[in-house]
Amino acid sequence: MNNIPASSAAASPLTPAATSSSTLCSEQDTWLKAATEAAKLAGRILQDWRGRFQVREKSRANLVTEADEASQRAIVEHLQAQFPDHGFLGEEALLTPDHQQLGSWIIDPLDGTSNYVHGFPYYCISIAFHRQGQLQVGVIFDPNRDECFTAIKGRGASLNGSPIQTSGESDLGKAMAMASLPIAPDPAHPMIQKFLKALPRLQTVQRSGSAALNLAYVASGRIDAFWSGSLHPWDVAAGALIVQEAGGTVTNLTGGPNDIFVPSLLAASSPQLSQELVTLLS
Ligand code: IPD
Ligand code: CA
Ligand code: CA
Repeated sequence: MNNIPASSAAASPLTPAATSSSTLCSEQDTWLKAATEAAKLAGRILQDWRGRFQVREKSRANLVTEADEASQRAIVEHLQAQFPDHGFLGEEALLTPDHQQLGSWIIDPLDGTSNYVHGFPYYCISIAFHRQGQLQVGVIFDPNRDECFTAIKGRGASLNGSPIQTSGESDLGKAMAMASLPIAPDPAHPMIQKFLKALPRLQTVQRSGSAALNLAYVASGRIDAFWSGSLHPWDVAAGALIVQEAGGTVTNLTGGPNDIFVPSLLAASSPQLSQELVTLLS
């Protein structure tokens, strides 16, 4: 599967270009506007393909449809027209050279393909822009509810233009969480064991089928935490920024700094809940 090595993002040898804060703000606004347009365009494509797509298995239970591919094509076309020199990383075999200095787009054209295939309306489009080792903007669009979750680094998170915040929940026993488990896992898989360990300790633990939407829901206070040990950068890039900008805590599963290029993520509504979950899941 395509990937940009972790080291290229986390420990870039490049020094960020000296950019004044007003220039950065205006660049961020441009990136967010383009990403939002692309996500909404892709949302219309996904809805249009419903009920008439062919399904293929990339590997056991790992599905892809023409809708995933059409969505990615439309997103890339829209962004490339405005940013021809940027890099692109997307789930459906999309990898142009990463561009550290100018930045790269990280795209999941349909997060929740299994849900989409079954007509379960919990899926979304996820687009993030990553430059000089930092996530700059993130967009998650749910075409079923017409909900667009966005964030700009250092400038907060929104849902359809209104600011959002995490729930702030700190009590494990009152928390509702979601977990993404590996596709078609063996019952002995460590992430299944962690899931079972969590069940009696939290108020509710769910598995929903869309990691990106789960992160958007942590950010907007609808759920209190989300974790996974098996995700790709396109599943989590936009959501990690949206949770952070909504006041949440995003780490890896052991409480260290999150790296979107490493499959280990824990997002929580508060630092206390995050710490409790790190201990519980260890
Ligand atoms: C999947 C979803 C799911 C997660 C899987 C991902 P896809 O993405 O995010 O929640 O558990 O690991 O692959 O394939 O629907 O884009
Ligand atoms: Ca995905
Ligand atoms: Ca996908």
